[in-house]
Amino acid sequence: MSKKPYYITTPIYYPSAKLHIGHAYCTVATDVLARYKRLQGYEVMFLTGTDEHGQKIEKKAQEAGMTPQEFVDSIVEAPGGVKDLWKLMNISNTRFIRTTDDYHVKSIQKIFRKMYDNGDIYKGAYKGKYCTDCEAFWTETQLKDGKCPDCGREVHDAEEEAYFFRLSKYADRIRELLTTTDFLEPKSRVNEMVKNFIDPGLEDLCVSRTSFTWGVPVDFDPKHVTYVWLDALFNYVTALGYQNDKYDDFDAFWPGVNIVGKEIVRFHSIIWPAFCMSVGIPIPQKVFGHGWLLLDGGKMSKSKGNVVDPYLLSEKFGVDALRFFLLRSFPFGSDGNFSNELLIQTINVDLANDLGNLVSRTTAMAEKYFGAALPAGCGPTAEEKEFSRLTAEKPDCDVGFSVRGDAGDPRVDAARCDMELVSMAANLRKKYETDMEHFAPHKALEEVFAVIQRANKYIDENAPWTLAKDMDANGPRLAHVLYNLLEATRICGVLLTPFMPETMEKLFAQIGAGAELQIWEAAGHWGALPETVAVHRGDALFPRVDADAAIAELEEAAKAAKAGSGPVVETEPQAEESVDFDTFCKSDFRAVKVLSCERVKKSEKLLKFTLDDGTGTPRQILSGIAKWYAPEDLAGKTLVAIVNLPPRKMMGQESQGMLISAVHTVDGEEMLNLLMVDDKIPAGAKLC
Ligand code: MSP
Repeated sequence: MSKKPYYITTPIYYPSAKLHIGHAYCTVATDVLARYKRLQGYEVMFLTGTDEHGQKIEKKAQEAGMTPQEFVDSIVEAPGGVKDLWKLMNISNTRFIRTTDDYHVKSIQKIFRKMYDNGDIYKGAYKGKYCTDCEAFWTETQLKDGKCPDCGREVHDAEEEAYFFRLSKYADRIRELLTTTDFLEPKSRVNEMVKNFIDPGLEDLCVSRTSFTWGVPVDFDPKHVTYVWLDALFNYVTALGYQNDKYDDFDAFWPGVNIVGKEIVRFHSIIWPAFCMSVGIPIPQKVFGHGWLLLDGGKMSKSKGNVVDPYLLSEKFGVDALRFFLLRSFPFGSDGNFSNELLIQTINVDLANDLGNLVSRTTAMAEKYFGAALPAGCGPTAEEKEFSRLTAEKPDCDVGFSVRGDAGDPRVDAARCDMELVSMAANLRKKYETDMEHFAPHKALEEVFAVIQRANKYIDENAPWTLAKDMDANGPRLAHVLYNLLEATRICGVLLTPFMPETMEKLFAQIGAGAELQIWEAAGHWGALPETVAVHRGDALFPRVDADAAIAELEEAAKAAKAGSGPVVETEPQAEESVDFDTFCKSDFRAVKVLSCERVKKSEKLLKFTLDDGTGTPRQILSGIAKWYAPEDLAGKTLVAIVNLPPRKMMGQESQGMLISAVHTVDGEEMLNLLMVDDKIPAGAKLC
């Protein structure tokens, strides 16, 4: 292999129901990182797959009246299944592993035996608490209020003959790994692992079960099946050919980078490296624990039934817009609140307005003023060339610039204005690279969009339409302005390719940038675009979305899905969620009086309230209740609001809290009543 190898993985997902936007978030992020490394010239191995064994899947299959294999096939392989979703979302994985693949099963049997032979797995009796949903055993001390500390569900006593892995033996090495290296990121997750799991003492881990059969049988003791997490974690290496002849890539690609959600960081940063140490292979290069996409502040999950369907959103808004939104809006290491409003706003502001307009304005002007091809001589000036050379020579630092001369001299002013755009664009690749190397794609996008916004401002500053009024005098200046715009757009386009691969092809076609100008090296080279480039005006890259209409359609689709006719399959029972008392007490409910209420323009759903909350400063809250109330009926009423939610923008207006209502159904129709309390209660009174 002449290129340098790079290996990156997603978690392997449970095929217990259709995947949702949270799974898509992780897979798209990993895809972006994989494409970025390919752009840089690495030979990238990118693995995703499905984790198909275990009691939960066995139970689901039974409920569906299928064999477990039929059940998982129906979710993974069938039209509209996991593989189809990744195809739709343009995921560039090189491999897809299913833990039911024959080669993986045989490898796991060999691995189990190897760990048994080296004394790390031994037979004992298991007594403890088991959470069926998480497939996890817990000790009494690990339980939270007697329930599973991960999902909050009931656990049950389990006692059976079982094999154990000597996890305790590795405690010191794992502590050292976590506290003295960058193995686990973001750093904030390290403390959590050490405090919650290592400090209390690592206990040996039960790694076999006898109470069900859907798993990898232990070949030397077949009434036992292998614990799903042992089966699952080793996927990262069996898919490269570890302990099998199917592939021969282990030596070239391992160790790799494991991208996982924060809830499975424990498995990946404690148990997985201990397993690697036990069988004598290198530990992963890095485990990165990303945050969750939340819905209304809570975790989106199949079992809660509050999932968002990535098929629907891709179809409606386009795959690239959805991919972009996921990485632009949520810092990768933290949680973020998903909403349809935010999605549409991101498409309209960043993609339709900023990027789309830059491309359409620039290509339209090149066509209008120069018949599509810019004239020779419009490229970088000597000063700009020199600057660009310096930038390329110092790949690790921002290179500044200066233009000599007095302000007020039109040539000097123009050169200064140019240099601001040129320097931002020429230094962009290194900033982007630093962010991507730190697993911060959201920051890399921030940098790219700063240049796009600067370029739009540059159009306004230079007013090409005014220059065009006197082409004899201003033609060369106008051509240089357009060249700079096309060149800045090209550099941004290259760096946006991992995020929006299909649309960037269209962008390159429109600005006339050929394949040699779309590569990593060319993104660090200001002035690579030939001067006489010919543009090809095309359709808008991102049409504006009519927010109200789109939201109404999405709500309709969500209702249909809930009623069972839509694309989201919900089979798991609704889990009862509980909050602890301290968390509950943090919610600040207050009596509020309606000072005024009106409809929000262009919205069918929203009413805007101005409220007296007792503080003396009116509070504005937007509420989607226009279907049930006329604004004039609400003036003077005393309502209840939660006032310490973070402010949220709806239809461009800030909402500072939420009004409390009762929601119920009458003859299949959803009804809503605002909670109204005795008018004698003063504004601002706290409800507790
Ligand atoms: N099968 C295990 C993983 C084994 S890896 C050796 C599993 N599967 S899962 O189907 O539950 O998928 C979990 C992963 O999906 C999370 O770690 C995360 O990457 C992604 N997400 C699932 N819901 C999510 C959100 N609501 N938000 C963000 N990511 C989410 O655990």
